[in-house]
Amino acid sequence: MIRVEGLSYSYGSSPKVLDNISCQLEQGHCIAVLGNNGAGKSTLLKCLNRVLVPQEGEVLIDGDDTNIMPRREMAKKIAYVPQRSIASHTMVFDAVLLGRKPYINWDVTEEDRRIVQRVLKQLNLSEYSTRYTSELSGGELQKVVLARALAQESDYLLLDEPTSNLDPHNKHNMLRLIQDISIEQNKTVIIVIHDLNLAVRYCDRFLFLKDSNIYRYGGCEIVTTQTIEDVYGMKVEILEHRENKIIVPC
Ligand SMILES: Nc1ncnc2c1ncn2[C@@H]1O[C@H](COP(=O)(O)OP(=O)(O)OP(=O)(O)O)[C@@H](O)[C@H]1O
Ligand SMILES: [Mg+2]
Repeated sequence: MIRVEGLSYSYGSSPKVLDNISCQLEQGHCIAVLGNNGAGKSTLLKCLNRVLVPQEGEVLIDGDDTNIMPRREMAKKIAYVPQRSIASHTMVFDAVLLGRKPYINWDVTEEDRRIVQRVLKQLNLSEYSTRYTSELSGGELQKVVLARALAQESDYLLLDEPTSNLDPHNKHNMLRLIQDISIEQNKTVIIVIHDLNLAVRYCDRFLFLKDSNIYRYGGCEIVTTQTIEDVYGMKVEILEHRENKIIVPC
């Protein structure tokens, strides 16, 4: 479980982006982080992962304070996919192999290679393994970055808009895979996503950010027309289709 206690963050002397946030993100759930542009979603993910160091408060992962957790241990616990990835001139196989870095002591093992091959296959990327990441399309690169995070085999996955560049078919495939991994391996996935329909379809917990704080956190029952109007200032209708909620702007 990730426990956040009294977390505040501001960039330099700007007003606080996150102001005294506390929550418990339970093990084995797929948690959607939702909110307007600029609400602080990416900042929150970075604070959980100590890419950013909060000015106040703490983050505990399975009871351990991330303040004093060695980087390598943190990388075994948490894999993070940032909102924007820059492609270096690396072969796809090697880019995904980088996910194994926290486990590699002297040399890459056969097991590391097997894991990379398995993940590439899961994401339909096997035929790309000798391509260079700098020569991939935006969506292909996004899949490679996700593959690297999966190869890390961490208990927690922090994904910042991981499907924003994917076509509809790939979006659903990717989110289904993430959901399956979360259920089968009891992993906690924290995913920033703007598409509310994808969020309600593939996630089972919802964390709405508003005014530098958590507006609401809970299961699908909190995704209501009122919550959406309060958070996004947008009137919607919520329909039911095959036990799924469908959110339609009015
Ligand atoms: N490096 C930075 N320096 C200064 N201000 C920043 C920096 N990064 C983000 N901000 C500001 O902090 C606020 C929160 O940004 P953040 O990236 O967390 O938003 P977000 O919810 O992820 O938005 P989006 O949905 O557009 O990705 C915004 O007002 C943004 O302009
Ligand atoms: Mg963001």
